[in-house]
This record gives sequence, structure tokens and C-alpha cells, in this order.
Amino acid sequence: MAKDVIIACDFNCKAEVMAFLDKFTEEKPYVKIGMELFYSEGPEIVREIKKRGHKIFLDLKLCDIPNTVEKSMAVLSSLDVDMTNLHAFGTIPMMEAAVRGLTRPDGTRPLLIAVTQLTSTSEEIMKRDLLINEPLDKTVMHYAANAKAAGLDGVVCSPLEAGKVKSVCGDGFITVTPGVRFADGEKGDQVRVTTPADARHLGSDYIVVGRPITRADDPVNAYRKCVKEFLEGAK
Ligand code: C5P
Repeated sequence: MAKDVIIACDFNCKAEVMAFLDKFTEEKPYVKIGMELFYSEGPEIVREIKKRGHKIFLDLKLCDIPNTVEKSMAVLSSLDVDMTNLHAFGTIPMMEAAVRGLTRPDGTRPLLIAVTQLTSTSEEIMKRDLLINEPLDKTVMHYAANAKAAGLDGVVCSPLEAGKVKSVCGDGFITVTPGVRFADGEKGDQVRVTTPADARHLGSDYIVVGRPITRADDPVNAYRKCVKEFLEGAK
């Protein structure tokens, strides 16, 4: 199973993201492009970053009727991204349609990952606003199992949930995990955090790391430290 560090490039304009990527003269990190950058710069930003040799996780979290998601995924697939995602909340028919849309004529496709419950949704909010009366972690595992049944490759989850996802969906089911911080670093607004090394030991396949790298005094060194800790399990 491939393991990698994905840098969350949470910048809102091309100039900032390019200035950040220019610092990397030796490595070509895997980058996550989110809604903020995509909506401000459009698909051209994906093409440009791809042309520079980076792998791309396009984090747009689609959720709509199956027909719309299928056609939108076909567009994203033609952008040649390496990974993209949707909300498992959209149900199995929507996820199946997404897989169809994403699959290119030659049978290849980007990895497709599901968001289960957003980490901003507490059990209390889930009950109050969504009328879901099951425990949060049961809902997360149920959505992960739905994603697997629909043919998806994995889920976004906390490193603390990665082991359980693997036990429910199998070792080959990919876990993409944000909420990673260096042992001596700032948590920011993340609550349940783990170090890169702990994320690896807990079963993360890809860690998504933003501010600990993008806001570091030396982002290249921070990235290297993160890769070393995650890929080698070194603390
Ligand atoms: O800066 P930080 O390392 O907290 O960035 C984490 C990234 O992962 C951000 O882009 C954030 O939106 C994303 N993310 C998250 N928690 C989720 C899903 C995505 O932090 N449950």
C-alpha cells in the first residue's frame, strides 16, 4: 500500500500557492487543492500544478444527485488528478455513479475517497440537525462500509479511526487522515491530533498536513521531517 504525506495547500490565490511550491527545488510533494483555491482560480490551477510534476488530491467533496455527480466526476477525471472525494452522505447510488463518471475510457481512474461525517459534526449536532440517533462512530463505520460497497477506494478519517476503518473495510481500504501535528507543534483549531509517526502506527495511508508545513519558518524542512516521521515511523 502506497503511503505518502499530502500537503494541504490552503491558499486562496495562485501567486501564494506557486510561491510556496517554488520553495521545493528537490522534492515534488503530493498536494491537496481544496475548494478555496479551486473556486478562486478554476481548473487551470490543477493543470498548472500537475504540469509541475506534483500528484494532486482534489478535495471538492461532491454531493448531489447521481447524474450530476457522475458528469462532474468525468470532468475532474479529465483534469488528471490522482485522488478526489465526495460525501458518503450522498448514498450508495451516488457513489456508484461517481465511480462510473471518474473511470476513463482506458479503465483507469483517480483514487476516490469518501468523507464520512465531517469532524466538525459532533454526535449531539448529528442527532439534533440530522436526526441520526446512532452513535457517531457507528455512523462513520457504516458510511465507510457503504463507500466500500459502492467501489470506492477509502475514506477521509481521523488517524484515531483508521484502525477501526481497516478492521471493518479491510487492510486495502485507504485511510486519508488530517489532524496531524508535530509533537512540539501548535494544534491550531484541530482537537484530536496525532503525530506523523503515531498516524502511521495507527493505520493511516496518507496524512494530510497543512499549517505545520505551510506556516513553518522553513516549509521544506518541515515537510522533510514529516515525511521522515511518517514513512519511517521515526519519532
Ligand atoms: O492546517 P491543517 O493541518 O489543520 O490542515 C488540514 C487539512 O485537512 C485542511 O485542508 C482541512 O480542511 C482538511 N480536513 C480536516 N479535517 C477533516 C477533513 C479535512 O482537517 N475532517
